[in-house]
Amino acid sequence: MDNQNNKNSNKDNFVNKYNNDNNTFEHDSKLPNDIFVTPWEVQGKLGEENYAKLMEKFGTQAISTELIEKIKKITGEIHPLIKFHYFFSHRDFDWLLNKYENGESFYLYTGRGPSGLIHMGHILPWLFTRYMQDKFKSKLLFQITDDEKFLYNPDLDRDKIAEYTYENILDVIAIGFKPELTKIIVDTKHIKHLYPIATEIAKKITFSTAKAVFGFTTMTNIGMIGFPPIQAAPCFLPSIIEKKPTPVLIPAAIDQDPYWRITRDVAEKLGFYKPAQIHSKFLPGLSNSSKMSSSKPETAIFTTDEPEIVEKKVLSSFTGGQPTIDLQKKLGANANICPVFWYLKYFFDSEKASTERYYRCKSGNLLCGECKNQLAEKSKEFIIEFKKRREKARDKITDFMFE
Ligand code: TYM
Repeated sequence: MDNQNNKNSNKDNFVNKYNNDNNTFEHDSKLPNDIFVTPWEVQGKLGEENYAKLMEKFGTQAISTELIEKIKKITGEIHPLIKFHYFFSHRDFDWLLNKYENGESFYLYTGRGPSGLIHMGHILPWLFTRYMQDKFKSKLLFQITDDEKFLYNPDLDRDKIAEYTYENILDVIAIGFKPELTKIIVDTKHIKHLYPIATEIAKKITFSTAKAVFGFTTMTNIGMIGFPPIQAAPCFLPSIIEKKPTPVLIPAAIDQDPYWRITRDVAEKLGFYKPAQIHSKFLPGLSNSSKMSSSKPETAIFTTDEPEIVEKKVLSSFTGGQPTIDLQKKLGANANICPVFWYLKYFFDSEKASTERYYRCKSGNLLCGECKNQLAEKSKEFIIEFKKRREKARDKITDFMFE
């Protein structure tokens, strides 16, 4: 189905539904009240059930078996992050693939807000984006929202943001994107390319809508209130660069979705395609939290961590294990709530190895120490290799800059 022009589709009605002045950012869906997902904050326990409710609330679609078959038909395979439902939701990904099959190539667009160093959660959508670039030979716009993070964080000054911007760019390059197909946009540096289109977008969005979609209040600084069109602008930049309507696919975790809702709402009014999205879940932190987060550094693995720190963090991780070895052998453990299990599954295990791990864990034949040791070893190897790539990236920055 071509969803872009389906005005009656309930997929894009979020903005209209909330577009009234009495609205606050309240939960009207069946999402529990302690679940709170915005581009700047994620709170609460996000299990399978709540991800499904988030889709309902945000008006996105599950990645269906038909869609997976379609991807397989085009690429000849299914990426593990789709197969394992880490990417679980989308908007118009089917439409975009139809366009591709009909000869229209698409751009990829993703990004980073440089408020700190990069952890393993950030790089999962980027590794997937690189895979998509390789498979579809797609051009990629990678936006660094240094303005957003300056405006949002009371404690970050412009110098600190500039430092993180530089450090984060090294990570982006270390992911392995193709320089000839990739352009990094740093908002404060490349604003002249974004501003004309951002003002067009801004003119079509009321404060009432922004308030409802992002949860802004009268205490929010006006820089933040005016920021969303800047993150929306790269969705339309490809059409301007290519001088023809150009489809765009955004791989990111579902926290960024509010931006795409307002972007999709104005797209047709401005003569562009609505950007398509593929949404991931969050990589859990090594504590019992839903999302790996820089604000809890002891539970996040950073690409800049020393190997012994990585080891220490992994070995002190929360697991789904029992309080004693005897009980574990008797009752088995719970892989579903274990960050060590998920981390191994998403980054390192084959499908077969992960299934075996799951059942050995459940039956009590696998102890948490074994999984932790394996994860510590694999993460250390990964980080050591990634750091070498980061170092090499220092000489490549200009090749990747938008201009
Ligand atoms: P930022 O810097 O918060 O996050 C960068 C990317 O990482 C994802 N992410 C995670 N994914 C999995 N597990 C986690 N624990 C985790 N934490 C963060 C985010 O969804 C994002 O994909 N405003 C944006 C920057 C931006 C952007 C974009 C992001 C500008 N344009 C286009 C995605 C797409 C931000 O601050 O992202």
